[in-house]
Amino acid sequence: MAVDTSGAYLQVDNLVKYFGDDKAVDGISFGIPKGAFLTLLGPSGCGKTTTLMSIAGLHTIDGGRIRVGETIFTSPKEGLFLPPEKRDIGMVFQSYAIWPHMTVAQNVAYPLEIRNWDQSDIDDRVAEVLELVGLTDWADSLATNLSGGQQQRASLARAIVSKPSLLLFDEPLSNLDLKLREQMRVELKRIQNEVGITSIYVTHDQSEALVMSDEIIVMSKGKIEQRGGPVEIYSKPVNEYVSNFIGIANLMKGKVVEVSEPGIGKFEVTQDGQTVQLPCRLTAGIAAGEDAVLSVRPENVHAVPEGGGGVLTGECIHAIFLGSYVDCRVKWGDFEWKVISHPRNHPRTGEKVHLRFDAEHTLAVQP
Ligand SMILES: Nc1ncnc2c1ncn2[C@@H]1O[C@H](COP(=O)(O)OP(=O)(O)OP(=O)(O)O)[C@@H](O)[C@H]1O
Ligand SMILES: [Mg+2]
Repeated sequence: MAVDTSGAYLQVDNLVKYFGDDKAVDGISFGIPKGAFLTLLGPSGCGKTTTLMSIAGLHTIDGGRIRVGETIFTSPKEGLFLPPEKRDIGMVFQSYAIWPHMTVAQNVAYPLEIRNWDQSDIDDRVAEVLELVGLTDWADSLATNLSGGQQQRASLARAIVSKPSLLLFDEPLSNLDLKLREQMRVELKRIQNEVGITSIYVTHDQSEALVMSDEIIVMSKGKIEQRGGPVEIYSKPVNEYVSNFIGIANLMKGKVVEVSEPGIGKFEVTQDGQTVQLPCRLTAGIAAGEDAVLSVRPENVHAVPEGGGGVLTGECIHAIFLGSYVDCRVKWGDFEWKVISHPRNHPRTGEKVHLRFDAEHTLAVQP
């Protein structure tokens, strides 16, 4: 049987999954190295959970192949389907899914009991994992007496106790309040790092994805829009969709008028009778003369005095002081630029404002 030669530890090739006539996952492919933390990020209904369930074997799939290590998990074409219980996967879901009538230690021990570990090995391993997730003092409490954050730690402990080859997380933090969610992001990442288990993490929360991931796959409608590290996804989105989904961006329709060297050119926009050409970076595949979308993060638009290199002039319609920065809006024709300014030197409401852009952080992306 031909095995893909990607060298990745987990390899998903051309995964297709239908529900009735609806394609929930539309031919996605990705591979990840052993120990990596990859996040599937996208809006509700884009196929994240379906992808995860397909890897876990909780869904059969309609096309493609999933391999982990040397083992083919699923390949309909080859007639292969490894049952979920043979896949050696730990899972953590949004709902805590721990058993209320058992203590924390009993919950965590369960996966080892069904694998027929010796009792003394179970005791040692459970103690080790409870220590890792910070629940040592709660070992003998009933699981229902834990807070939401603690219950999620217990779920994680249960998922990693048998040292599975793969960890799958489906929005594990979304039931927690914001403060706890922010703490748990860091905690969860620390624990994953420590145990070194290859992980796929599903979320629709972009800041969670940026904080936690080695790499992010941005999905839309069952397809992959972009894959990259958090910095790359944020600073070099390939299209309007990704740019809009991650962080805040000024997005404006226009045209690429010049390509001076590969990936570098000029973008032309017109508003209110002013036409400006902005030196910019170009997403691969955009040629001169093509329609594109300008994408500039608010922190990369600079309000400057007359003669300070500004290329267009608008009016500041609000400037909100937020401590470490000032959030400004600059109206230019029908367009409102979002501009982040320094509190010591920012435009005031009603002022004429000149805007300067750096070519490096001004992108022309696919519409
Ligand atoms: N068991 C099912 N039966 C029928 N349709 C389903 C089923 N599970 C998912 N779908 C459909 O497949 C598509 C993808 O769903 P999926 O649950 O994978 O999305 P998701 O990205 O996880 O979204 P969310 O962020 O809301 O959890 C959706 O259109 C959904 O309605
Ligand atoms: Mg989901």
